[in-house]
Amino acid sequence: MAEIYPGVVEKYREFIQAPMDMEAVTLLEGNTPLIPVPSIANALGGGFELWIKFEGLNPTGSFKDRGMTVAVSEAAHRGAKTVICASTGNTAASAAAYASRAGMNAIVIIPAGKVAAGKLAGAIAYGAQVIQIDGSFDDALNIVLQISEKHPIALVNSLNPYRIQGQKTAAFEICDVLGSAPDWLALPVGNAGNITAYWMGFKEYDQSKKTGLPRILGVQAEGAAPLVTGHPVSQPETIATAIRIGNPARGEEALLAASESKGTIIAVSDKEIISAQRLLASDGIWVEPASAAGIAGLKNQIVGGLIDVSGKRIVVVCTGHGLKDPDIITQDFKKPEVFPADFTRLEDFILNG
Ligand code: F0G
Repeated sequence: MAEIYPGVVEKYREFIQAPMDMEAVTLLEGNTPLIPVPSIANALGGGFELWIKFEGLNPTGSFKDRGMTVAVSEAAHRGAKTVICASTGNTAASAAAYASRAGMNAIVIIPAGKVAAGKLAGAIAYGAQVIQIDGSFDDALNIVLQISEKHPIALVNSLNPYRIQGQKTAAFEICDVLGSAPDWLALPVGNAGNITAYWMGFKEYDQSKKTGLPRILGVQAEGAAPLVTGHPVSQPETIATAIRIGNPARGEEALLAASESKGTIIAVSDKEIISAQRLLASDGIWVEPASAAGIAGLKNQIVGGLIDVSGKRIVVVCTGHGLKDPDIITQDFKKPEVFPADFTRLEDFILNG
């Protein structure tokens, strides 16, 4: 019988720092495709190899599942009955799914009106208690931190080290497929857990398997770019609501990942993000706006002559699926005309317009 992929915890148990005897709460997350996209590389000027790590193909539609399987497994292992997180949406849906899988309760606190429809629906569908606040993600994170310190409720935001342990496995997968680390890795940065996890993963794999290290290009949205401006943003704003964060919890580690890797953290405009979303979709890869930030950042650097990509191998991480945020697409879109179900009329329309 073919070997069944066991999910992140079992697949990488020897590399994950977590209780050895903990049982995995898994939806078989991870093992996402690394998709070659030569036509997008050409659209960006060509002369380099480009791959998309499509993390939107995880069970709840975002990369959060990789870390959530470890965080919820560990919480269940020590007998927690409830998990809590602040979220711009994806963490909420993921926490809700894994908590339900473990027979636990999930409480998610989100900024009112700033969470994409597919994420909110997910959190509700998986049975979480969803609380909206009149405030930002950063406000929500402060509150859940206090609650988890005061009560026996497990925090599953990426401040939880087990989240990072799981998320770093994406770097392992990239090295396993390519045979080494890429020259550059570009990804969106919000609360800065993922960039921290990738850098940890690449460093650890290099130590044990000599896979080398990439330079990291972290990308924030212009209206929510505290790591670029050098100070917290009290009212972050961007169309990429997933990364609408003004005071990243792992900001210091993100800056360290950029400097140690000889990379950088930059900001791109909402316009660049939407244009990158279209470019990806033109090659069959539909991602939510925040997830297009990596491509937007790469394009920004190439167009500005700020990085030399010639002959390089580049991986861009697309963190969440386009289905999470359909409104971004449909709000500006002319509804298709409704025709009678009549062959001749449709034939005429298709052929003659
Ligand atoms: N891309 C997507 C689709 C996200 O949902 C997030 C973060 C990021 C990128 C940034 O990752 O925070 O590790 O730097 N979403 C969090 C959430 C904040 O609540 O779902 P990060």
